[in-house]
Amino acid sequence: MTVELRDFIARRKKELNALILAHFYQLPEIQDIADFVGDSLQLARQAAETEADVIVFCGVSFMAESAKILSPDKTVLLPEIKAGCPMADMVSAEALRNLKEKHPGAVVVCYVNSTAAVKAESDICCTSANAVNVVKSIPEDKTIIFVPDRNLGAYIERQTGRKMILWDGYCPVHDELSREEVREQMRLHPDAKIVVHPECVPDVTEMADAVRSTAGILDYVKTSPEKEFIIGTEKGFIYTVQKNCPDKVLHLARQDFRCEDMKLTTLEKLAASLEQMQYQIEVPEDIRQKAYLTLERMLKIN
Ligand code: 13P
Ligand code: SF4
Repeated sequence: MTVELRDFIARRKKELNALILAHFYQLPEIQDIADFVGDSLQLARQAAETEADVIVFCGVSFMAESAKILSPDKTVLLPEIKAGCPMADMVSAEALRNLKEKHPGAVVVCYVNSTAAVKAESDICCTSANAVNVVKSIPEDKTIIFVPDRNLGAYIERQTGRKMILWDGYCPVHDELSREEVREQMRLHPDAKIVVHPECVPDVTEMADAVRSTAGILDYVKTSPEKEFIIGTEKGFIYTVQKNCPDKVLHLARQDFRCEDMKLTTLEKLAASLEQMQYQIEVPEDIRQKAYLTLERMLKIN
C-alpha cells in the first residue's frame, strides 16, 4: 500500500511539474518523500525561487499562504486544509490595526507564523532564523511592535537590547516546556548541551546553551564537537537531526512535544492532494500585494 502510494505520488508529481516542500516537524514518511525539507525561512525561499508549476506544502496554512504570496502564478496546495497554527490565529488584522493606531509611526515586525492579512498590516516579516537581524535592521529611534509571539519577542529583546511592544501570543506546543523539565533532562544527561527553539519561554531560552530555528538546531548539532544534546522543539524534528547526525545522542526535552497540526498531513492526504489538486490556497490580491512587500523586505535580509 505504502509502496503504491509512493509510486503514485512520484508519478503524479512529474505529470504536474510539482515541488513537494515539507517542514521539519512533518511525519518521517512525508519528510522522506519531499523534494525539500527545511525551516520556515528555507521553505519560503524555495517557494519564491522554484520553477515548478505546483507547490505542495506539507506544513501548516501560514506556510502555504506565504508560498502563494511569493509565487502568485503557481498553484499552491495544502494537503490538509485543517492544518493551521494556533499562534498565527492569536492576532487578527483588526486587532493589529487598533494597536498601530495607538502607536503612530511604529514599525510592525510580524513573525512568519501569522495570517496573510496580518502580514499585509505589517512592515517587515521575520522567521526564527533571521528575527534578530530583522530587528537590528530597523533604525534605533523607531518604536517596534512585534506580533504575535511574546517568547520570540522576548528573546529578540535580550539579543538586541531593544525594547519592543510585544503581542501576547505564543506557541501552545513550545510554551509548555518548563525550566523544571529541562533541569530534569540535565540531571539525567549531565554531559548534554541544551539547544532550544526561541518559541520556548524565557525561563528556558535563558538556560540553554544555544537558541536556534529548526535549521539552526540541525546545524548546531552537526557542527558541534559535542556528542549529546537535549533538544527543545517539536518531536518530529528529532528524526531529521538523527538522520543527519547518526553518531550524536539526542534527548527530547519533553516527551509529548508534539504539534498536532503538523501531524495532520499523511501520505494518503498528500496523494489525494496531488490527484484532486486540493486544497488550493488563495490570497485576495490586495492583501497579497501588501503581504508580498512585508515578506520581500525580510528575504533581502540574511
Ligand atoms: P522554524 O522557522 O524554526 O522552522 O519554526 C517554525 C515553527 O512553526 C516552529 O514552531
Ligand atoms: Fe504553530 Fe507551534 Fe505548531 Fe509551530 S509548533 S506550527 S508555532 S503550533
